[in-house]
Amino acid sequence: MTSFPTTRLRRLRRHSGLRDLVRETRLSADRFVAPIFVRRGRSIREEIASLPGVFRLSPDGALAEARSLRDLGVPAVILFGIPDSKDEIGSEAWEDDAAVQETVRRLKDELPDLVVVTDVCLDEYTSHGHCGIVRDGEVDNDATLPLLARTALSHARAGADVVAPSDMMDGRVAAIRRALDGDGFEGVAILSYAAKTSSAFYGPFREAAGSEPKFGDRRGYQMDPANRREAMREIALDLAEGADAVMVKPALAYLDVVREARVRFDAPIAAYNVSGEYAMVKAAASRGWIDERRCVLEILTSIVRAGADFVLTYHAKDAAQWLGK
Ligand code: PBG
Repeated sequence: MTSFPTTRLRRLRRHSGLRDLVRETRLSADRFVAPIFVRRGRSIREEIASLPGVFRLSPDGALAEARSLRDLGVPAVILFGIPDSKDEIGSEAWEDDAAVQETVRRLKDELPDLVVVTDVCLDEYTSHGHCGIVRDGEVDNDATLPLLARTALSHARAGADVVAPSDMMDGRVAAIRRALDGDGFEGVAILSYAAKTSSAFYGPFREAAGSEPKFGDRRGYQMDPANRREAMREIALDLAEGADAVMVKPALAYLDVVREARVRFDAPIAAYNVSGEYAMVKAAASRGWIDERRCVLEILTSIVRAGADFVLTYHAKDAAQWLGK
């Protein structure tokens, strides 16, 4: 390898055409999955205070939102349900006429090409805010599995293309795969939140969903942020159980995990640019402290550069607009 003055890396940075030619990572709207919060009703549109620009929508509003995303080139949405009522076991999660199920039906009816992903978890639906059945102050792993499978099945019956378990129970991918296959839904894919840490960056989401745990925290089932090797074990196990794609969450503080997963596994890898990451950008931008557009595109580029095939992000609509589809 030659060096300066023969080699001058600035030669290929001199104008935008040159930079375009040598750009290694290309960001495009077709890598985005937009989260949508849904609740039962009509014409509901409640802005979430800590997520400016993100709303709790009734199925009609979710359809309109999905249509504008699709028109901007965003191929997929992920639905989160806000229940009418919560109970100890989160039973609204698997009601066939609950908000998520109803929205899935509307979306698949009217926008058949849109990829509809559903978040499978109980925390939004339980009165205590934990992701499973609580016994003696602890979330009971094996007792929770049938409820997750039941929830995934009701999403599949409504027409979901992909179900995405985010609970971090051991064995849930296998339990869901078995339930889906047993009911004729071999074609429904599983995107597992495989390496999901117990993170402070979910704060705004929990405000949106009212899912802050009423006692304790999630450290007994979500991963310790300090552990990268364990994240690889989580991913390997979920793939062995039948996950079609795996997710790292959050994204920004975990780009090393995304990177290592990319190197080690050939399965599609998603990263979730979570609510707290979005809220920080919005807060700083609203004060004029950062350039929102450039920061968002830089963040999303870095997640893709680290190795994510697709990115779940609340910036999806803005970024798609900026990318000029
Ligand atoms: C659980 C779930 C959470 C998020 C996605 N799925 C919250 C949690 O684990 O507490 C967080 C997403 C975000 O912060 O944007 N159903």
